[in-house]
Amino acid sequence: MFSRVILFNKFLEKDIKMRDVRVGDVKISEAEKSAINRVLDSNWLSEGPQVKQFESDWARYVGTKYCIAMNSGTSAIIAGLEAMKHCEHFPKANEWSKVITSPLTFIATVNSIKLTNYQPAFVDVNMDDFSLNAESLKEYLEKADVDDYSAIMPVHLMGYPCDMNKINSIAKKYGLAVIEDSCEAHGTKYNGKRTGSLSDFGVFSFFIAHNIQVGELGAVTTDDLELVRFIDKVKAHGRAWDREGQEEAVMKKEKFHNTEHEIDQHPRYYHDIPGYNFKTTEIQAALAVEQIKKADWIIKRRLENVKYLNEGMEKFSDILKLPTYNEDVSFLGYPFVIKDQSKISRKKLREELVTRGIETRPLFGAIPLHQPVYSYLRKEYEGKIPNAEYLGAHALYIGCHQYLTQEDLDYVIGAFGEILGKV
Ligand SMILES: Cc1ncc(COP(=O)(O)O)c(C=O)c1O
Repeated sequence: MFSRVILFNKFLEKDIKMRDVRVGDVKISEAEKSAINRVLDSNWLSEGPQVKQFESDWARYVGTKYCIAMNSGTSAIIAGLEAMKHCEHFPKANEWSKVITSPLTFIATVNSIKLTNYQPAFVDVNMDDFSLNAESLKEYLEKADVDDYSAIMPVHLMGYPCDMNKINSIAKKYGLAVIEDSCEAHGTKYNGKRTGSLSDFGVFSFFIAHNIQVGELGAVTTDDLELVRFIDKVKAHGRAWDREGQEEAVMKKEKFHNTEHEIDQHPRYYHDIPGYNFKTTEIQAALAVEQIKKADWIIKRRLENVKYLNEGMEKFSDILKLPTYNEDVSFLGYPFVIKDQSKISRKKLREELVTRGIETRPLFGAIPLHQPVYSYLRKEYEGKIPNAEYLGAHALYIGCHQYLTQEDLDYVIGAFGEILGKV
């Protein structure tokens, strides 16, 4: 706080206006406000026509047959993992089986594995784009007892796509399911297809800090109708309802064998598996429907900002590793890595940026090494995931969002110059 005040005075002396450069910003458009008002006027707040519209629009955008709306990305992962256990075509998806994922991710990926009674397992990531390293995955599985494993969950972190062709072919060899955590990659393309359409199912989060920002909303995307049927149930108390109108068939199939216990029941109150309440609301869905219309513009604006920042920041590339620019990426932020720690630590750089009004986030930490909740795995992974360990301690990101102006970006570049002594 003290340094912020001094700096503020310095700004006044030099007549430089301190800017507010956040990792994300939100501006609710008139069209979005009208959409929300239409929901309020309709007197229908729980899941209804807007949720259906969102599901159909997002499935079309991603390129899958189905989309199931959920109240968060975390719920989407949990519902998908839980539903797999009920599908005959995922015979390996048993409780306590292992799910391999990235050690460099937001904690929700791993918590969801843990809380659905699978066991998280980790392989290293690429230094360049933070994505799951397919070669490490191959080597890991060659040495593993593959009967213990049921799935691989690559994470498209910061919008960068994982190498899905390689990951899918490794998974096929060992009979493992593949789940894309695409929470941070809205519209990213990989070989011409969108992430979330490249595996058994994809999951998305439309949390406020993401590219399509709804507050709290999630989704599963998939082509697998059996999985959809179970996800629909898991997300709503294990109800015997069915999006294709097959409730009677579901109820007949699951009728109690002991006919003494049969009563006249309604699918809404007929529960053949345990489930959660992961339903969302019409307001969230209406907001998402409007925002999907802007998705391509959001991606384009972010790409332009990443390109501009990369050009301006090039002079710091002896100290910082700048993000790899790729037009297929829907950037969640502007991630970079401290290469030369003798010049500045992540902590110091973050402090200096914050005092100049530039918000930052560290890149999460390597989960089994840096997150206390998974410290029981620390010994197992020490020395085994060097890239994730380095990035977890030295990578960070700032905003590249669609509402930043050229003045904002110049201000950011200038601030880095001041901090790193290269004005
Ligand atoms: C990679 C990743 N997975 C999962 C999630 C969880 O999504 P939510 O916050 O909507 O539950 C997030 C959220 O930021 C995320 O970044």
